[in-house]
Amino acid sequence: HESTVPEELGDPAVRAAEVPEPGAVTIVVPTFNESGNVRELLQRITDSVPTRLPCEVVFVDDSTDDTPEVIFREAQDCPFPVAVLHRDEPVGGLGGAVVEGIKAAGSDWIVVMDGDLQHPPSLVPELVGTGERANAGLVVASRYLKGGSRAGLAGGYRIAVSRGATWLTKLLFPRKLRGISDPMSGFFAIRRSVVTAEILQPLGYKILLELAVRSRPRRVTEVPFVFQDRFAGESKSTAQEGFRFLRHLIGLRTASPAARMVGFGLIGATGFVPNLVGLWALTKLGLHYVPAEILANQLGVAWNFLLIEQLLFRERRRHRRWWDRAGRFALLANADLLLRIPLIALLVHEFGMGALPATALALVTTFVLRFVGTEALVYLP
Ligand code: GDD
Ligand code: MN
Repeated sequence: HESTVPEELGDPAVRAAEVPEPGAVTIVVPTFNESGNVRELLQRITDSVPTRLPCEVVFVDDSTDDTPEVIFREAQDCPFPVAVLHRDEPVGGLGGAVVEGIKAAGSDWIVVMDGDLQHPPSLVPELVGTGERANAGLVVASRYLKGGSRAGLAGGYRIAVSRGATWLTKLLFPRKLRGISDPMSGFFAIRRSVVTAEILQPLGYKILLELAVRSRPRRVTEVPFVFQDRFAGESKSTAQEGFRFLRHLIGLRTASPAARMVGFGLIGATGFVPNLVGLWALTKLGLHYVPAEILANQLGVAWNFLLIEQLLFRERRRHRRWWDRAGRFALLANADLLLRIPLIALLVHEFGMGALPATALALVTTFVLRFVGTEALVYLP
C-alpha cells in the first residue's frame, strides 16, 4: 500500500504526530445513512492513518439505506481491518452507537469521529500521539482552541445554538468539564481503560459530554481542529435532538441523590400551575372550593408524575408497570397532604413550636419523606 499526501487545507500531517509506543487505534464511526461519504472517508483514513499508526475501523450503523453494503464493498481495498456493527434496534441514538463501538474496540486507544468528513481523519494520529505524550485519558479535538474553527457549522442560528449550549453545559459541570473548551465536539480520542461502559447512559448526540461527566479521566487535553463542511448528504440532527439534549443534561446533572432531590423539589414547585388552573376551572363549574381543591391537587400530582417520569427516573421505570408507579406516587403525594396538618399540630402542641416554624419543619419533613419514598417505593434503583 502506498500512502498519498492528504490535500486538505491545514492538514496536520505537517504537525507530524509521533507513533505512540505500543500503538494501535480503533476508529469508531457512527453512521446513519452515510452511503455517499463512506468511500471518501475510508480513502482519507487510508491516506493518513495506517502509515503513522496501526488502526482498525468500526462502523456502528443504524442506517435504513445501503450504507452497510457500501462499507463492505469499499473495505475490500483497505489496508486495515474494517468492521460494521449494524443495529436493528438502535438505542440511545448516536451516543448509544458510539458506546457499542467502544465496547467492540480492540485497541488501547479509541478515536470517535463522524462519518461525513466534518472531522479530518488526518488528525487521528495526532490525537492519539498527544494523548500518549501528555499521559492523558482523553484528548478532545476542539473547535474553540487557537488554530481551530467551526467553519462547517453553517448559519448564524446553528452557531448561536451551539455557543449557548456550550456555555450552559460548562456552567452545569464546572469541575468535570475543566480543561475542555469544546464539550460538544464529536471528535476525540479516549483510552479504553478509562471508559466505564457499564455506568454510561448515552442519549443522543453528545457522547463526549457523557464520557467526560461519567467517566471523567484524571488527565484531559485538547488539540485544535477545523470543523469542515459535510462531504455528502445532510445533517441528521433534528429539533427533537435538541430536546433529547436537554433531557440528557438533566439526567447527567441529577445523577446523585442530592441533586435528584433538588430536581424533585423544582418539579414539585411547578405543580402549583395545573393545581391553580384546576381549582379555578372547578370552582367556575360551581364546585365547593374544598372538593375542588382536593380534585385540583390530583391534577398537580399527575403533572408532577409525568415530569419526574420523563426527567428524573427515566432509566428506572422498567421495574414496575406504569399504573403501579402512578398509583404509588399518588398515594405518597396524598399521604404527604394528610400527614402535614397533624404533624404541624403535634409540633405546636407537644413541642411548643410556633405555627410558622412548625409548618416549615413539617413541609421539609414531608417533602424529604416523599422524595425518599418515591426513590425507594416507586422507582427501584
Ligand atoms: N449509528 C448512528 N445512529 N449514527 C448516527 C445517528 C444515529 O442515530 N445519528 C447521527 N449519526 C451519525 C451520522 O451519520 C454522522 O456520521 C455522525 O453521526 C454525525 O451526525 P451529523 O448529523 O452529521 O451531526 P452534525 O454534523 O449535525 O453534528 C456534529 O457536530 C456537532 C458539533 O457541531 C456531531 O459531531 C455532534 O456530536 C457535534 O456536537
Ligand atoms: Mn455532520
